Amino acid sequence: MSTAQGRAWTAAETEVLVRSMMRAPSVHNTQPWVIEVAPGELRVRERAEPALPHHDPHGRDRVASCGAAVANLELAVRALGRSAEVTFLPDEKQPDLVARVLAGAESAPTVEELRRFGAIARRASHRAPFEGVAVPTPVVRRLAEAGGAPGVEARPVRPGREVAVVARLLHFAAERFQADSGYQRELSLWTIRDEHAHRHGVGIPASRVPAGSVPWAGLVRRATEIPATPELERHLAGETLLVFVTADDARGDHVRAGYALERAWLAAVDLGLAAGVLTQPLHLEPVRSALCEDLELTGFPQALLRVGYAAEADPPSPRRGEQEVLPGGPDSAVRPPGP
Ligand SMILES: Cc1cc2nc3c(=O)[nH]c(=O)nc-3n(C[C@H](O)[C@H](O)[C@H](O)COP(=O)(O)O)c2cc1C
Repeated sequence: MSTAQGRAWTAAETEVLVRSMMRAPSVHNTQPWVIEVAPGELRVRERAEPALPHHDPHGRDRVASCGAAVANLELAVRALGRSAEVTFLPDEKQPDLVARVLAGAESAPTVEELRRFGAIARRASHRAPFEGVAVPTPVVRRLAEAGGAPGVEARPVRPGREVAVVARLLHFAAERFQADSGYQRELSLWTIRDEHAHRHGVGIPASRVPAGSVPWAGLVRRATEIPATPELERHLAGETLLVFVTADDARGDHVRAGYALERAWLAAVDLGLAAGVLTQPLHLEPVRSALCEDLELTGFPQALLRVGYAAEADPPSPRRGEQEVLPGGPDSAVRPPGP
């Protein structure tokens, strides 16, 4: 086991670490994290606010978002040429401490690590339809590998019967959310209307949901037209879907699911693919249990990743300022270089 190396991070390194972490996906773009930067050690903490009582009543997605941020941070440490050792939920007395990343001795990153680090800046949620070109099986296999982590399996949804099951469940969820006024109120609060004034929130006003978009991928609103299940099935048949399954359903599983999800997503971007994530339908108990049963999953489904080829790159969504993510501001993290 490597130990933290006490060298302080330079200002430039701190910026790379913080910015990389900030580009992670998060539920409704809430960016529910802060980072503490110490010599040889990085700590990611979960912010309890903002809560999403309707969209994410148990905070699953908030913790998963922090897990995604940890994946980016780990890659950034590697890209800076240090070994990285991640421990999730390292201290039960500090439940908000989602992960500790120890940066150890100098160690050159692999080409794959550098490529996936490079994908951080290009990754964005894809909510429009894909090009309809099938993702080759060996590529799907690589994504599933990249999305595997201890206690997490990234399992492709098989064409035919399994896709039909997912279509039926997503249709059910879409109708439920559309009729839920509390959910609708919360969604409109988190929808960006004036992008210049926002540093968080989902950047897809109802008027700009791409034509032909699968509705739940654009988050279901009152006015969203929900297609019939067979049409939904036809849409999904043209995409590659991975379901992230965890061994258990506790906080540690949610963190790992987010971590694995982001690793698969970055691998996809590196391979020239686009992707978008869906967790919202899985928050409904009947959807979770039917998915488990009908797909014969050996654990708990936490997220669905839609993957495919996209006609054009998705624009980046806004982020908070670095000073909000790094308590005390960037200067507080930088110590003068040691002797
Ligand atoms: C745990 C988690 C759950 C998410 N759930 C959904 C979802 O159900 N539907 C959706 O359209 N986007 C979902 N997203 C994507 C976020 O809305 C997106 O990451 C955020 O708006 C930032 O945009 P970006 O991914 O383009 O950087 C989710 C992201 C995370 C990390």
